[in-house]
Amino acid sequence: MTDQHGTIDSHPLDTETYPPSAEFAAQASLNDSSVYWRAAEDPENYWAQEARKLQWSRPFTETLDWSNPPFAKWFADGTLNVAANCLDRHLAAGLGDRVAIHFEGEPGDTRTITYAELTHEVKRAANMLTSLGVKQGDRVAIYMPMIPEAIVSMLAVARLGAIHSVVFGGFSAESLRARIDDAQAELVITADGGNRKGRVSALKPTVDDALALQNGTELSVKRVLVVQRTGNDISMQEGRDLWWHEEITSYDGEHTAQAFPAENPLFILYTSGTTGRPKGILHTSGGYLTQASSTHRNVFDLKPETDVYWCTADIGWITGHSYVVYGPLANGATQVVYEGTPETPDWGRWWQIIEKYGVTILYTAPTAIRACMKVGRQVPEQHDLSSIRVLGSVGEPINPEAWRWYRDVIGAGTAPIVDTWWQTETGAMMISPLPGLTTLKPGSAQVPLPGISIAVVDDEGNAVDRGQGGLLVVQRPWPSMVRTIWGDPDRFVETYWEKFGDQYFAGDGARLDEDGDIWLLGRVDDVMNVSGHRLSTTEIESALVGHHAVAEAAVVGASDETTGQAVVAFVILKSQQHLLTPEEAEQELRGHVAQAIGAIARPRQVFVVNELPKTRSGKIMRRLLRDAAEGREIGDTTTLADTAVMQTISLRMRSDQ
Ligand code: WTA
Repeated sequence: MTDQHGTIDSHPLDTETYPPSAEFAAQASLNDSSVYWRAAEDPENYWAQEARKLQWSRPFTETLDWSNPPFAKWFADGTLNVAANCLDRHLAAGLGDRVAIHFEGEPGDTRTITYAELTHEVKRAANMLTSLGVKQGDRVAIYMPMIPEAIVSMLAVARLGAIHSVVFGGFSAESLRARIDDAQAELVITADGGNRKGRVSALKPTVDDALALQNGTELSVKRVLVVQRTGNDISMQEGRDLWWHEEITSYDGEHTAQAFPAENPLFILYTSGTTGRPKGILHTSGGYLTQASSTHRNVFDLKPETDVYWCTADIGWITGHSYVVYGPLANGATQVVYEGTPETPDWGRWWQIIEKYGVTILYTAPTAIRACMKVGRQVPEQHDLSSIRVLGSVGEPINPEAWRWYRDVIGAGTAPIVDTWWQTETGAMMISPLPGLTTLKPGSAQVPLPGISIAVVDDEGNAVDRGQGGLLVVQRPWPSMVRTIWGDPDRFVETYWEKFGDQYFAGDGARLDEDGDIWLLGRVDDVMNVSGHRLSTTEIESALVGHHAVAEAAVVGASDETTGQAVVAFVILKSQQHLLTPEEAEQELRGHVAQAIGAIARPRQVFVVNELPKTRSGKIMRRLLRDAAEGREIGDTTTLADTAVMQTISLRMRSDQ
C-alpha cells in the first residue's frame, strides 16, 4: 500500500468526477483541448501570443532569456506601462463607462467606480506622488484597508515605474518596520483606519509606532500619505504626514504614462517564510502582467462584458495583487471589492453581496468555505445566488467535503470549481482545471495550465510514475516567476534552485494519480514520517473533515519514540456535536481515520478544541500545534490572528495528559 517514497496510496482521495456540462462547455472561451498540446509544443510561442494581448509601447523581439539561470528575463526588449494597460487602454477602446469596481464598505457605504473614473484618480495620484519625489525604481510601502484608494495607490506607483511593497493591514508595527527597512521605502501610504468586524482597526497609529521603533537602523521613510477612511482620531506629524484628500486637490487628471522595460520591477511582496526574516519576493512588469491577465481570463472563463467577478482576498496577499488588481483590471473586468469580514454584521454578508451585484465568478479560500459550512447552509440558502457560474479556490488544498458543499450550496450543484495552485513566488496560477475542458475531481488541482511544465519528482529530481508521490517542481521558466529575493540573490538561489538545479523547487509535496492528475499534499515541512511511511497532514485532515461531526481539523507530526513521528489531530466539532464527549469524539475519529486511510494513519491523539491557531491570512500554524503536541513551550505566536488560542489549547492539553 505504499510506494517507494512511502506515500500512502490506498486511499483514493476521491473518485467521483464532474465533467463540464454541455451548456457550460459550449459557451466557454477555451473548449478545445488542443490548447494544451499547442502550448506544450512551443511554450515560449504560447506566452508570446498571450503577451501580445497587452499593449506594448515597443514590441518585444525576444521572448525568454534564460542565459543566466535562475535569473530569467521575459520580453526584455519590449516596453510597456503596467497601469496604462489596466486603465488608459480600456478608455481608448471606448470602455470608459464600464464599472471597474463596485465597492462595498463594511458599514454599508458603497461606491461605483468606472474605468474612466479609476483612470482619472490614478492619474491624479501619479501626479501627487511625482511631486512627492517618487520616480522609477523607488520603493513605496502601502499599508491600507481594502478600499479603492489602496488599488489607486498601487496603480499610481506602477504608473511611475516605481515599486510598491504592500504590507497586509493586519501586520504589527514590527513586521511593518522590518519590511520598510528591507525595501528602504521612502514613502508610506496608509489610512487612518479600516472597518473590520464592526470596529475601526486603526492603521495610522501602527505606522507611527513602526516608524518610531528604535531598531538600530536608520529610518528610510520621509513622508506618510494618509487616506481618511474611518475618521478615528490620529496624530499627524508636521513635515512628515500629509492627508491624501488635502494633497490630491492640487493635482489634475492629466498624466501621460511613460513606457518602462518589461523587466522593470513592479512590486516586492514579503512572504512569512517558516523561519527568520521574511523574503521579499520581487516581481517585474511584462511577464507578470501577461500571466496574471492570461490566467484570470482563461481559468475563470472571463467574459468582461457581462461577468461580475469577486475575489475575496486582501490586497496584502499575492492573490489580491494578481486577482484583484492586475489580472482583472488588465482584462477590463467588472469586480466587487469588499472592505470587511464575512461575518459582519452576520454570516449572510457575502451572500447578500453576491445577490446585490449579481456576482458571476467567486474566488475564495477553503478556510472561508469551511467557516461558512460550519455556520450551515441555511444562511446562504436565504439568498439568490443563481448568478454564480464559476467558483474558484486558492491557498490550500480544498478537501472534497468542502468542495462538494461549495459546488452544491454556492454553485447550485452545477458551477465548475477551479482549484488553483500557485504561490507568491509563482506570481500567478500554475495548476488549475480549465472550467470548459477539465473533468473535475474534488480535492485535486489537476493539471498544469497551458504553457506551464510541472512535474512530481523524487529526491534526486527524477519524475515519479503515476500513482506515486514526491516533490512538486516547475521544469521550465514561466513569465510571472519570482525574479529574485529583494537584496538577497543568494537566498533566492538557495531556497528554490539549489535542490534540483534548473528545476524550481516549490516546497510542496504532491501525488500523481493514475490519470496523471496532481494532488497537492501540503508543504513538505508538514509531511510526517510515521514508521517510515510518509503521511500527508492534508490527507488526514481531509479524512477528519469528511466525518459528519467535524467542522475543521489540523494534523501535525509529533515526535514519537516508537514510530519516529505520530499523528496528532486537533479538531473543531460542528456546533450540534457538542453532545459528544471529548473521549467519545477521540475514539470515534481515530477509528474513522484508520478506516479512511489505513491503520498507519490512525492518530495517536485527537484533541477537541474550540479554535485553531491561524495566521492573519488564515493558514493554520501547525508549528505551534506541534509544539503543543510535543509538550514544548509554545514558540513565536506573533503572527497569529488571535494569540489567546494557543494558551487555551495548551491548557486543554495539559489537563488531558
Ligand atoms: C499552498 C497563495 C493546494 C501551497 C496563492 C503553496 C495550495 C502555498 C493551493 C503558497 C491549492 C496554494 N492547493 N495548496 N490550490 N494554493 N497552496 O504564497 O502550499 O500565500 O506552496 O500563495 O499555499 O501560499 P502563498
